Amino acid sequence: MAAKSAPLTLPGLAGKIVVITGAARGQGCAEALVLLASGAHVIATDLNDACPSTLEKAAAKLPGELHYAQLDVTSEADWSALAQFLKKEFKQVHGLVNNAGIPFRGRIGEISRVDWDKVFSINVTGAMLGIQAIAPLMRKGASIVNIGSSAGLNAHHTVAYTASKWAVRGLTHVTATEFGPRGIRTNIVHPGYIETEMMAAAPAIMTDAQLTLTPLERTGQPEEVAAVVAFLLSDSAAYVNGAEIPVDGGFTSSAGVKYMSDIIKASQQKK
Ligand SMILES: NC(=O)c1ccc[n+]([C@@H]2O[C@H](COP(=O)([O-])OP(=O)(O)OC[C@H]3O[C@@H](n4cnc5c(N)ncnc54)[C@H](O)[C@@H]3O)[C@@H](O)[C@H]2O)c1
Repeated sequence: MAAKSAPLTLPGLAGKIVVITGAARGQGCAEALVLLASGAHVIATDLNDACPSTLEKAAAKLPGELHYAQLDVTSEADWSALAQFLKKEFKQVHGLVNNAGIPFRGRIGEISRVDWDKVFSINVTGAMLGIQAIAPLMRKGASIVNIGSSAGLNAHHTVAYTASKWAVRGLTHVTATEFGPRGIRTNIVHPGYIETEMMAAAPAIMTDAQLTLTPLERTGQPEEVAAVVAFLLSDSAAYVNGAEIPVDGGFTSSAGVKYMSDIIKASQQKK
């Protein structure tokens, strides 16, 4: 995929009103651009007061409409203000992407209660508050996409982050079950190692290990996650509900077996 070229466009998204959290940069920003390129009306939200100029500039060339709102996902008051604005302005919302999330690299035995609570309040409670605030504005055909992580499918040592992403899976399945009868779908996407600012601080040794364990033998780009999120928001995914989709180059599918296979192959080649 030509990740840095013009954003991909997907059918079935034109005119849809979609809220994205943590959209100022990284995957949230890439998701906003794919949706805008596909003609959607995007409400990009993040912690800062102002929309980042990079997003604003890129959006100006695309057919969809961009609206930016300051929103801390942990704040019920922020969610309530956004819901009131959306009700007044658009009457309904077609999509919600619970993308905002923070990593925390502490291990079990060393993580403090304060850090544990902070990770859970953003990664889990933030998504739950978003669903509670926005779902009342959704009608039949609407779609919620939660952003999990490959860490939510395995035992990554970052205990608070890993446990929080496992919790978001639970939230996804409950929501898919509760809202299914209303015609509202909920799914979760699990990115693997994606090149964003979040991963810029990852130790080089971790990147090397990740590549050793990933069948595609490369890291991913935010645009590659955004394409799958946009598909789940679109009507093309009309019968996809409660699904978990890894976007990780085969990392979680392989479950470490690539490493074993590679060392066996290398030892056989030596003989
Ligand atoms: N990058 C990866 O390799 C990777 C892998 C797996 C999962 N993820 C998940 O993907 C999502 C996006 O990650 P990214 O790599 O784009 O990260 P990023 O750090 O580049 O961007 C995250 C955005 O979330 C915003 N944010 C943080 N706290 C917030 C809050 N309380 N309220 C509102 N916004 C807040 C930040 O300001 C930032 O703009 C996260 O949920 C992350 O856990 C990322």
